[in-house]
Amino acid sequence: MILIKNCRIIVNEKVFLKNILVKNGKIVKISNKEAFADKIIDAKNNFVLPGLIDCHVHFREPGLTHKEDFLTGSMAAAKGGITTILDMPNTTPPTTTIGALEEKRKIAAKSVVNYGLVFGAANDNLAEIKKAKNIAAVKLYMDYTTGDLKVDDFEYIADVFKASKLTVIHAEGENVKNAVEAFSKSKTKNRIHFAHISSEKELDYAKNSKVRKQVTAEVAPHHLFMNENDLQRLGAFAEMKPRLKTENDQKALWEGIKNGSVDTIGSDHAPHLIEEKEQGNYPFGVPGVETMLPLLLDAFNNNKITLREIMKLCCENPAKIFKIKNKGFLKEGFDADLAIVDLDKRQAVRNDDLLTKCKWSPYEGKILKGWPVTTIVNGNVVYDNGGVVDVKAREVQYAR
Ligand code: DOR
Ligand code: ZN
Repeated sequence: MILIKNCRIIVNEKVFLKNILVKNGKIVKISNKEAFADKIIDAKNNFVLPGLIDCHVHFREPGLTHKEDFLTGSMAAAKGGITTILDMPNTTPPTTTIGALEEKRKIAAKSVVNYGLVFGAANDNLAEIKKAKNIAAVKLYMDYTTGDLKVDDFEYIADVFKASKLTVIHAEGENVKNAVEAFSKSKTKNRIHFAHISSEKELDYAKNSKVRKQVTAEVAPHHLFMNENDLQRLGAFAEMKPRLKTENDQKALWEGIKNGSVDTIGSDHAPHLIEEKEQGNYPFGVPGVETMLPLLLDAFNNNKITLREIMKLCCENPAKIFKIKNKGFLKEGFDADLAIVDLDKRQAVRNDDLLTKCKWSPYEGKILKGWPVTTIVNGNVVYDNGGVVDVKAREVQYAR
């Protein structure tokens, strides 16, 4: 039994000071009592959030482990208050066969945060998609990016929508509209989730159609906290797919957060080495698991977002959309995945402090107010004030 004392938590939009009792990795009691426990953790009146579910990371294993692997990526995630990640399929080999899925399952066991695996749609793997078990979703690439998974044939795309309960789509610009049209035509009861919506237009295409009830939208922190003006300063280090957009688009994404048309925030943690970014034909993507929550807490301190909105976008909605069992909420019976955050802590993002293998961040030097201080995964303290403990986590299960 572990007792986490003095937790400031939000229940039904109100703030309470409570103690959280944890047994066998689950929350068993949230109350004012000080139950007997073998171990006591003092949250010191800090806010305690459900551990974040980052529904979009690239941990690069297998095949690209010079950039990241499941241990370094997951340690970085834990440092960022994230307790569950969903890993994308554009590894080498890509996660587009049952064999590759089982292989990744074995590899991911080294993760210190809970994990789910996203299966990839290739041009010819419908049979494999239908066979894949316990996957978070199927990822469909309609535009070019890292990996070689672009699918162009709209009939085949409709078949993917019909075969997969949830398809996560990488589509840019007009392709968001094309995806919604193909989905609509397929007449399926399944759902689609747009990854990294980056512009006003994309958000509009995604969320204003007659199938909108079956469509959800994610935004990435880089599109919320940067815009195309940052490209001059950062060059390749701010180049990702989709690209940074105008200030107006950035504003539209924040409005989407306020009006509920944005459903999730996912880091799209896409690490590449500094040497790779310095080459002429640099790869696209920026790291993000360590900075997503600090950026959002800083935005909270600047009155741009509420803690409730952060909880909905980064904990509750990912759990609901991906139907992840027993996560996303601080509730009795749920997994003890928690992020203790110090809203007053001021600290600069420093490349030297980062745990990601790529060791750089587009936010280097930026002073942020509000940082995760302790991260608890399945009842185990995995991150505490700078230090990470290597306790293995597990694969998530889905309610479908
Ligand atoms: O910039 C990106 N990098 N966008 C993606 O969609 C993929 C990612 C990567 O894997 O590097
Ligand atoms: Zn991605």
